[in-house]
Amino acid sequence: MEPFKIKVVERLPILDRAAREAALERAGYNLFNLRSDEVTIDLLTDSGTSAMSDRQWAGLMVGDETYAGSRNYAHFEEVVRKLTGFPQVVPAHQGRAAEHLLLSVLLRPGQIVPNNMHFDTTRAHVVHQGARPLDLAIAEAYDPRSLHPFKGNVDVARLERLLTDEDPSHVPLVMVTITNNTGGGQPVSVANLREVSAVAHRHGVPLYLDMCRWAENAYFVREREPEFADRSIREIGRAMFDLADGATMSAKKDGLVNIGGFVVTRDAQLAARMKEQLILFEGFPTYGGLARRDLEAMAIGLEEATELPYLEHRIAQVRYLAGKLASAGVPVFQPPGGHGVYIDAHRFLPDVPISQFPGQALVVEIYREGGVRTVEIGEVFRGPKDPADRTPSLELVRLAIPRRVYTASHLDHVARSVLAVWERRASIRGLAMVEAPERLRHFTARFGPLPSPATTPRGSKRPARAR
Ligand code: F0G
Repeated sequence: MEPFKIKVVERLPILDRAAREAALERAGYNLFNLRSDEVTIDLLTDSGTSAMSDRQWAGLMVGDETYAGSRNYAHFEEVVRKLTGFPQVVPAHQGRAAEHLLLSVLLRPGQIVPNNMHFDTTRAHVVHQGARPLDLAIAEAYDPRSLHPFKGNVDVARLERLLTDEDPSHVPLVMVTITNNTGGGQPVSVANLREVSAVAHRHGVPLYLDMCRWAENAYFVREREPEFADRSIREIGRAMFDLADGATMSAKKDGLVNIGGFVVTRDAQLAARMKEQLILFEGFPTYGGLARRDLEAMAIGLEEATELPYLEHRIAQVRYLAGKLASAGVPVFQPPGGHGVYIDAHRFLPDVPISQFPGQALVVEIYREGGVRTVEIGEVFRGPKDPADRTPSLELVRLAIPRRVYTASHLDHVARSVLAVWERRASIRGLAMVEAPERLRHFTARFGPLPSPATTPRGSKRPARAR
């Protein structure tokens, strides 16, 4: 059951089919262009969409809006230091601002940044500095059916080879994203982090974590690594952070706030340089582009996200929805990850070629069916691939579950909508991209229906392929 009760409610927009159809057309079949009053259940993202607790709302009221030296900053810094063990804390308004601070100081053109899998903003920031992102997740990460317990793990042999072959000055940092959002919200084991840390440090390269969903990662570690079965989420967090040199954080995830983030590091010189950037782009180092009341809400949310009843319910919600879909035959990325259910669009729509964006087509159909907004993490999200990149292409649709927002019956509505689409999958066609921006195109691209070929009139049933 939900380990909370509801004190404030917000009405859900319920639209009829014609209104949903009109909304799709206006949005160019890109659900980022929908207005919130056109969305019944919003599973676009788990980022910045959490419900804050009564304690966090109370925290807003003790916001001390001083430019320099606010007491809320002192509280925030104390909590971050306590949870992560990193002495240097640099606040930022969200994750990508933290990435900008760290990567603009550390990277030079031509360098390489290995990661298990870069999230798109991290990838874009690496590229923005003229460097090259390199994904080094284990092979199982690319297999939606593999039941490997830690599909976020780094392929340590490939990392070792990279660091041996390259001049270490070409690799200024190794990053690991916990959990791995781009690959199904899959966790990374502490055992793997130990190996990655040892290899990186042997070559003199620092290790940075993308710790957006670190508490969820720690939950899986507790469940799946026997050594940690009796340890608290905070202790597991420290076991992970102690292996690293720093981290970037979007507190819009496991900070349970609507805005906020930070960079942490052990390197005082690096922190000083990041603070120079911070003052230039975000604000003074005791607020980092945020209202001080937001720092207070973040300090409280960071601690609440480590509570076991909260995490147990959160992960159980993801499993509940994944189980409902998988038991009806829907190809769900296995095992379900920490912050959402991912559907394998390749297997859901096997007759839609990648050039017609099967993931995006599925996202559109799920909205059309039940007013449920999801997001494509596939061809549209990734953009045109580097020809040297030989990694297989996942084509996923993510149903991200906001924290403490929806109840089990909301998830039942989501399951009914997806299952109705599953029933009529044989008649679903792909999409054409009619406007294609160069960078971060999934936010702004526009799509249209494919021109109807004479041989397959719209709505005609093609035989479903054996799955
Ligand atoms: N790193 C990861 C792993 C993320 O998932 C995100 C954001 C960021 C960095 C950037 O953080 O949004 O605060 O600037 N992910 C959101 C999502 C947008 O929907 O998965 P941000």
